Amino acid sequence: MSVTQQQVLQALAGVRSPRGVALTNADVLSPITVSDGKVFPERARSPSEARAWESVRAQAETVVRALPGVASAMIALTAERKAGPTPPRPTRPGQGVPPAAAHRPPHSPAGSPMARQAEIPGIAAVIAVASGKGGVGKSTTALNLALGLRDLGLRVGLLDADIYGPSVPRLTGIREKPELNDERKMIPIERFGLAVMSIGFLVEEDTAMIWRGPMVMSAITQMLRDVAWGTLDVLVVDMPPGTGDAQLTLAQNVPLKGAIIISTPQDLSLIDARRGLAMFKKVNVPVLGIVENMSYFQCPHCGTRSDIFGHGGARHEAERLGVPFLGEIPLHMAIRTSSDAGTPVVVSEPDGPHAAIYRAIGAEVRDQLRGAIAAA
Ligand SMILES: Nc1ncnc2c1ncn2[C@@H]1O[C@H](COP(=O)(O)OP(=O)(O)OP(=O)(O)O)[C@@H](O)[C@H]1O
Ligand SMILES: [Mg+2]
Repeated sequence: MSVTQQQVLQALAGVRSPRGVALTNADVLSPITVSDGKVFPERARSPSEARAWESVRAQAETVVRALPGVASAMIALTAERKAGPTPPRPTRPGQGVPPAAAHRPPHSPAGSPMARQAEIPGIAAVIAVASGKGGVGKSTTALNLALGLRDLGLRVGLLDADIYGPSVPRLTGIREKPELNDERKMIPIERFGLAVMSIGFLVEEDTAMIWRGPMVMSAITQMLRDVAWGTLDVLVVDMPPGTGDAQLTLAQNVPLKGAIIISTPQDLSLIDARRGLAMFKKVNVPVLGIVENMSYFQCPHCGTRSDIFGHGGARHEAERLGVPFLGEIPLHMAIRTSSDAGTPVVVSEPDGPHAAIYRAIGAEVRDQLRGAIAAA
């Protein structure tokens, strides 16, 4: 049985705003989306009221989830902010991006972009895998890197924050939907020893998703905070491509311990990578380093290497910008075919050369995060 918008509205009419007005009369609901038994109403409030509204949000979610035919409901509390003055950024001598060790503590003064970030209980370090441009292999690298970190003995989660085009369901072969625990939090899907969450588990991969800015943020916030992640050393976040507003908001709102920039060797992509670096610098997120993906072509038959795009550009660029160079991943058929088959190369060929590269990159990342992981 499929739920209708009318049924959702009837259920929400029974929930009261902090002022005691029925939600449906409080002029706070944005259009309600019902998709294949999944409901996505959205409400918008000013940030100052957000706390008072949190219990209302939870109640609204409970009543909608209780409707017959509702597989999952996501009610987002969105706080649309007016642009405030940009807080002064600490000036640093010399060039480059601050190292992880220079990361500011999470308790920043109110009003700074970092003030929105609260640590996620149980997670020692959240890191983003990002790129200036699409299609450079972020998702592939994020997943294999997560597996590399797992191989080092860490407890690792993977959050697919690419809500426009989630690819983690395909890369991991996960088809099931997350269940809710007693606290009504979504339980991440366990696969290859990773805790995995993606908006793609809730909507079909080919469903065109049109999200407005505030909805993007609240969807991602919910996937971070309303998911029972358990205890993790590292949560790897696969970011949507680009360095636009959505990415900037994300970088500001997620309590990131660091970011990894993926680039291909072509110049254009490097220019985009520089944009990525600049974005994280703007929000004071340390860049853990650059990974050069599709660095060289490795023949699947004879194993010989061809530097079709030229070689060493990302390493050189990393040096110039003063950020670590984390490693080179070849363009290899096995990396693509294993991803397409839902068994990433670190799982399908754990003793192969590619898995070794991802583990080596993982070791660099772990070393940089050591302080955060050890403190947890
Ligand atoms: N090192 C590699 N060798 C071979 N194929 C690769 C490699 N890295 C990624 N690919 C392939 O390139 C394509 C794009 O990769 P992926 O989806 O990871 O990129 P992305 O940056 O996440 O893309 P988007 O910007 O769309 O999110 C996929 O088909 C993937 O299998
Ligand atoms: Mg991707």
